[in-house]
Amino acid sequence: MNRIVVLNPKGGSGKTTIATNLASYFASQQQKPVLMDFDPQGSTLRWVRKRQPTQPPIHVIAAFEKDPRTTRSFQLRVPVGSTHVIVDTPAAVDPRLLPELTRDARKIIVPVLPSDIDIHACSRCIRDLLLVAKIRREHDRIGVVANRIRRHTLTYQSLIRFLETLGIPIVATLRDSQNYLRAAELGVGVHEMKSYIVREDVEEWRPLIQWLEVASGGC
Ligand SMILES: Nc1ncnc2c1ncn2[C@@H]1O[C@H](COP(=O)(O)OP(=O)(O)O)[C@@H](O)[C@H]1O
Ligand SMILES: [Mg+2]
Repeated sequence: MNRIVVLNPKGGSGKTTIATNLASYFASQQQKPVLMDFDPQGSTLRWVRKRQPTQPPIHVIAAFEKDPRTTRSFQLRVPVGSTHVIVDTPAAVDPRLLPELTRDARKIIVPVLPSDIDIHACSRCIRDLLLVAKIRREHDRIGVVANRIRRHTLTYQSLIRFLETLGIPIVATLRDSQNYLRAAELGVGVHEMKSYIVREDVEEWRPLIQWLEVASGGC
């Protein structure tokens, strides 16, 4: 199973946006993605429920709910034939939970906004992934998505320098775009919107999708 975890302990960095848009992309490619929502705010769950019957289906699992009537593994089971499991995580996730959350992840996406506070939170998150979850850099499983970026700004330049020092690749750079807000309201992703409106955004997803397709080590 192709498991992709979207993770960053900072709220508002774009985890749900990336998880839902990825699921939408795979669904639009006739794949069978599953979204697993570990965030008690349930934004991903709500997004899936907004989808129309005419749109390709995306199975969602409310992993944040604890159901005492069933076992955890039964609650988290994915339908037969699923192609991808995309895991959306909450803010302030306890580093001690990282090994479990990331154990079977083929890829871990860390979205980060270009601000000092966010860069700091991102560095802690990557440190925890390397030291607590014991993910090896050379396995190419961790990728950063620089989100809501205005290129040519100083904070963006410092984000790039900072990631270079960590040796973690920036696998996509997404601009600040109203299309993500519109997509969130409609229960779609940019890949399902009219191409002349989202051309620039869709283009920015290309390197991320390519990186996801490359096999990674250690998993
Ligand atoms: N690239 C972007 N351009 C514009 N708005 C964005 C972008 N990425 C995220 N947002 C908006 O920022 C807010 C927080 O994003 P969200 O994905 O919910 O973050 P998280 O899940 O990390 O808390 C949402 O309103 C979302 O629509
Ligand atoms: Mg979220």
